Amino acid sequence: MHLHKYEKVWLIFGILSLIVFLSIVGVTAFAHGHTPAGGMDVIDPEKVDETAPFNEPGVKQIDKDTYEVVIVAQAFGYNPAKISVPVGKEIIFTSTSKDVVHSFTIEETKVNMMVVPGRITHKSYTFDKPGNYLVICNEYCGTGHHFMQTEIEVYE
Ligand code: CUA
Repeated sequence: MHLHKYEKVWLIFGILSLIVFLSIVGVTAFAHGHTPAGGMDVIDPEKVDETAPFNEPGVKQIDKDTYEVVIVAQAFGYNPAKISVPVGKEIIFTSTSKDVVHSFTIEETKVNMMVVPGRITHKSYTFDKPGNYLVICNEYCGTGHHFMQTEIEVYE
């Protein structure tokens, strides 16, 4: 009786492990097939909240000299609402939109990203002086367009 029960448990455990393993392999292979190249990756705009890296918007340190900022644009704002990054490091902005075309335009810099639903846009930038930088939306996106903005704090 007991043995039978444990056998069953182990069998289920084994099958589940196999499924998990295959999913990881599958997802990894899929992700590698879609490695950012020209900043024209695709994404389902209906599933932004579930799709990595957009399921966790914010600043991530990639290595000693590189940070990634994941941004989701939506009428009429950006997630995360507040961004802090260090000066003198490479910042890779990765963004997409959940609805219509927006932009992620950092004033006083050359960063002017088109943020398009269904696409993932990348832009690398290194701030050479600390301070607060205003981010605005340059693409008309509706009644709240003029209020669509956020701020980047660049710290020493
Ligand atoms: Cu978003 Cu204009």
